[in-house]
Amino acid sequence: MLAIIGGSGLYSLGDDFELQQQADRDTPCGETSADILQGKWQDVALAFLPRHGPDHKIPPHRINYRANLWALKNMGIKHIIAVNAVGGISTDMPPLTLAVPDQIIDYSSGRENTFFDGDDTLVKHIDFSWPYSAQLRGIITEVGLQLGQPLVAFGTYGATNGPRLETAAEVERLQADGCTMVGMTGMPEAALARELEIEYACLALVVNWAAGIEDRTISMQEILANMERGMHQIKPLLLGAARLVQK
Ligand code: HPA
Repeated sequence: MLAIIGGSGLYSLGDDFELQQQADRDTPCGETSADILQGKWQDVALAFLPRHGPDHKIPPHRINYRANLWALKNMGIKHIIAVNAVGGISTDMPPLTLAVPDQIIDYSSGRENTFFDGDDTLVKHIDFSWPYSAQLRGIITEVGLQLGQPLVAFGTYGATNGPRLETAAEVERLQADGCTMVGMTGMPEAALARELEIEYACLALVVNWAAGIEDRTISMQEILANMERGMHQIKPLLLGAARLVQK
């Protein structure tokens, strides 16, 4: 069964999601962002968790990523598609682009970023050379092809701390580092999933040009409008991917 972690703009799957079970928010790592909803979306079984909470009250740096991942693992989840709103940096990433990044650079700080912090567990170092699941990335791009939905199949996600957006100089630095998109929630989520041996991929929706790419300030209204429009394109992709994972 696939789990979807919804980002900004994706707080529910809609009326055609039939709830069957709800997992408790309490975990040994604290509370999850919301109840994890398990049920059927049309003909497909899946689980759903909105990472900012059901009404978007949890900012990126205060999300309990460990509780969220722990609870999903505890439910037996082996595959996660994470939906993340991002700012576009490279020229192939204008607003409303959908992308499946293959790399991450982590600029976040002060977040609980491991299950192996040495208190009562053995120190463990995971391989993270390719941070996303090749299998799930393949599934998403295959569904994109089937649906005729254009997707950028590669990219490097720069994970900043937020909640403010970046300065133009910071985005220039991200660009020089090789980031093609920037968001605030990609890490430590991806690394925690790897620690728990969960197949994990990111489906990123570009909702604005990153700071300084255009010679104007970033409009929050435009971001919200793009989120709303983009999420309509994302849902059929998620449904198709959930079907393939179920097979
Ligand atoms: N920067 C960081 N996170 C984001 C952005 C951005 O420009 N847009 C959406 N999430």
